[in-house]
Amino acid sequence: MLEVQNLEKVFKKKAAVDHINLYIEKGESVGLLGPNGAGKSTTISMISTLLHPTNGRVQFYGKDVFEDARDIRSKMGVVPQEIALYEELSALENLQFFGKIHGLRGQILKEKIQETLGLVGLKDRQKDPVKDYSGGMKRRVNLAVALLHDPELLIMDEPTVGIDPQSRNYILEMIRKLNKEKQLTVLYTSHYMEEVEKLCDRVYIMDHGQVVASGTNEELRSILSNEETIEVKVKQTSEAFKEKLLEHPSVNQVIAAEGSYTLIVTNSEQLLVQLFEYAEESSMSILGIQIKKPTLEDVFLHLTGRTLRD
Ligand SMILES: Nc1ncnc2c1ncn2[C@@H]1O[C@H](COP(=O)(O)OP(=O)(O)OP(=O)(O)O)[C@@H](O)[C@H]1O
Ligand SMILES: [Mg+2]
Repeated sequence: MLEVQNLEKVFKKKAAVDHINLYIEKGESVGLLGPNGAGKSTTISMISTLLHPTNGRVQFYGKDVFEDARDIRSKMGVVPQEIALYEELSALENLQFFGKIHGLRGQILKEKIQETLGLVGLKDRQKDPVKDYSGGMKRRVNLAVALLHDPELLIMDEPTVGIDPQSRNYILEMIRKLNKEKQLTVLYTSHYMEEVEKLCDRVYIMDHGQVVASGTNEELRSILSNEETIEVKVKQTSEAFKEKLLEHPSVNQVIAAEGSYTLIVTNSEQLLVQLFEYAEESSMSILGIQIKKPTLEDVFLHLTGRTLRD
């Protein structure tokens, strides 16, 4: 659906976006993860035709987005990082205004407004002025504005920053549903790795204007290493059990402690079934197992030497 090639944006001799490549397939939910100043918003502005690149190109279904920017804008819904609403107007009036900009009129506009207000859970407050809304509610109106014209691609720029946990969960759950049930294609920008991990099929990690890594959550975690840690809680330890474990090809290390074993393994799936067999053969019982996988936060730290929240 979308292809970004060699995209660059230079501000005052400094590259805010430094030759990045990315693609989005129809129906995918793609995350753009990176710390402050990574170049996420600049990238989104170029994708959504608000900003001209210094170099490179953005194609939507094989067509350069700047060729017919008006047409492209009708196919994308963008939720900007800054809330962009008329504070004195109600949610309803804001949606009427933005709907008309997109060429919606009459009964269709009315129906779309009520549908999107329903989606973002603001039907009962629609006549109150936006200035009386909480930050989370304003974000939800912003989201409704982006969805009003039935976009094929929904682009969100950090839509959950600085809002209450309830609105945050509401927004995340809503996006997940739109993507999984209505096959809406999603580009989700954030510096919260746990949101991206939960919501996105694939992730691009940006830092200093460059894509430093990309792939599915699993693929990104495997950058770190294929190793996992398994904690096995047992009733009592057994030398025979430890020996059997050490003979297994997936097991690299076994650390025995009072009532537990810590295993360093390369492929936990292969080992798990046999773990119980070994325990039975050694006449001992396993009380619990915990597999620890590295998070995207660990991956970012590994690649850049910094945390996402610096
Ligand atoms: N209009 C502009 N003029 C000059 N520099 C800019 C402009 N817009 C962005 N920049 C610079 O480009 C870099 C990337 O900014 P951008 O807003 O794209 O980052 P971001 O990843 O969205 O960060 P954040 O998480 O803080 O929103 C920053 O160094 C920023 O100062
Ligand atoms: Mg930004």
